[in-house]
Amino acid sequence: MNSLEQLVTQAQADFASAHDAAALENAKAKYLGKTGQITEQMKGLGKLPPEERKVQGAVINAAKEQVEFALNARRDELANAQLQSRLNAEAIDVTLPGRGRGMGGIHPVMRTWQRIEEIFGSIGFDVADGPEIENDWTNFTALNSPENHPARSMQDTFYIEGNDTQGKPLLLRTHTSPMQVRYACMHKPPIKVIAPGRTYRVDSDATHSPMFHQVEGLWIAEDISFADLKGVYLNFVKAFFETDDLQVRFRPSYFPFTEPSAEIDIAFGSGPLKGRWLEVSGAGQVHPTVVRNYGLDPEKYVGFAFGSGLERLTMLRYGINDLRLFYEGDLRFLKQFN
Ligand code: FA5
Ligand code: MG
Repeated sequence: MNSLEQLVTQAQADFASAHDAAALENAKAKYLGKTGQITEQMKGLGKLPPEERKVQGAVINAAKEQVEFALNARRDELANAQLQSRLNAEAIDVTLPGRGRGMGGIHPVMRTWQRIEEIFGSIGFDVADGPEIENDWTNFTALNSPENHPARSMQDTFYIEGNDTQGKPLLLRTHTSPMQVRYACMHKPPIKVIAPGRTYRVDSDATHSPMFHQVEGLWIAEDISFADLKGVYLNFVKAFFETDDLQVRFRPSYFPFTEPSAEIDIAFGSGPLKGRWLEVSGAGQVHPTVVRNYGLDPEKYVGFAFGSGLERLTMLRYGINDLRLFYEGDLRFLKQFN
């Protein structure tokens, strides 16, 4: 083997052992650079006589082409290997099971809301919905709450910018009772409706939240009495708590819009709350002035109304002792109900 053939063989071996582009460029310099071995051979041609120069020139050129060919082939190989390793690194395994989207759940208070609609719906109550921003008339005056009633104070009520048509400030409803007025003004008796929804008060502790939920109940006809209230509410709490083992009691109370008025208490016959009377609702026979404000004749139409706290009912059903847990958005708490 002459020296040029050896040079080509050596170059091929050097290129093959270059494992990245930088090493390959260094190996190239050794043969094809300014002082590379092939370049040196070319320079030596000048010393030869013309005839020999021609022959030897062709031989060196052929060797140079072989070296360049080996160089390019190795460049392609390295580029392909790099691409392949990127493809491997970024590969997507289509056989992996999908990650899926986290399933949402129903908030425990919303679950109570749904159950209440089902239970009252099953005994013929309509379900009504109304505005959370109320006017003074519907939230207070129509419900026989006098101008100086403490519930109207800035401490109890969130007023918002803007006035109603009578120049009174708009407010966030403090209870669902304005729905009695809205619904009764738009329907003819017999009126039999519940109105669940959000309510607001300037209140905040373990059993009071500035935003909470109530459900209003209203049944007005020619012959609806307190006995009906007792029957309906007992039926409701038994269905809601899924037990017959409980008692209901009516404790005298005061609301401007009912007369007589009562707080409804329940007591479980078993379980951790056994024997304790727990308040679940305000209630009463609708005051004649309020019936008149419905646009009805109080001599002819009578009935009852109640207003229960949904958070309270939910806390009793699940044994939760701090209402603030409902609104902290802690998934560890919320997941327990789904
Ligand atoms: C009322 O709001 C009356 N409108 C209820 C009523 C309707 C009486 C119809 C007669 C006829 P009271 O302020 O007591 O009443 O509220 C009723 C229930 O709402 C309470 O028993 C309680 O469960 C709930 N509640 C009141 N304030 C809050 C609060 N800040 N956070 C959570 N729940 C509350
Ligand atoms: Mg009360």
